[in-house]
Amino acid sequence: MIRATLAWGLACLLGLSAPLTQASEGAALFAQHCAACHQADGSGTVGLAPPLLGEHWQRLGADRNYLVQVITQGLSGLIVVNGQRFVSSMPAFAGQLNDEQLAAIATHLQTLQQRTGPAYSPADFAAARSTAGNPTQSRALRMQLLK
Ligand code: HEC
Repeated sequence: MIRATLAWGLACLLGLSAPLTQASEGAALFAQHCAACHQADGSGTVGLAPPLLGEHWQRLGADRNYLVQVITQGLSGLIVVNGQRFVSSMPAFAGQLNDEQLAAIATHLQTLQQRTGPAYSPADFAAARSTAGNPTQSRALRMQLLK
């Protein structure tokens, strides 16, 4: 009886803590790897890196692969975000972080953007790694989605 109760308690704890761990890990990783340029709340830095928030994310987010591609392969070339021009480069993170970490970051960003939809999975990033892509192609995809 006691053992069964303990097992049940443990199962509840594990069930609860898995998504919580991913969410807090995503926030911590975003703070560590993205916030220097984009700020912890994703509001961006004038002249350096664009806000990651705004109405245009309804269209950019409609293709879930866009965010995955930018984080994995980078992005470069002029973009205009909320009326501001950015001409710098977004570094590719495929070489720095593993698929679990990249998925946690993307899911955290999706929450900051108040977008709904399933969480990003490590498999999304594994697929992006094995697909050809580069910063210029990410920009071409962006232009296509915002057309
Ligand atoms: C060294 C600064 C820097 C860091 C660090 C950085 N970014 Fe960026 N990011 C940029 C710049 C600059 C751009 C715009 C590139 C351009 O003008 O083409 C950008 C663009 C983006 C975009 C596309 C925005 C749009 O409107 O299409 C996303 C998404 C993004 N970054 C996410 C992230 C995430 C997530 C991280 C952390 C894993 C991160 N960035 C880390 C500088 C940075």
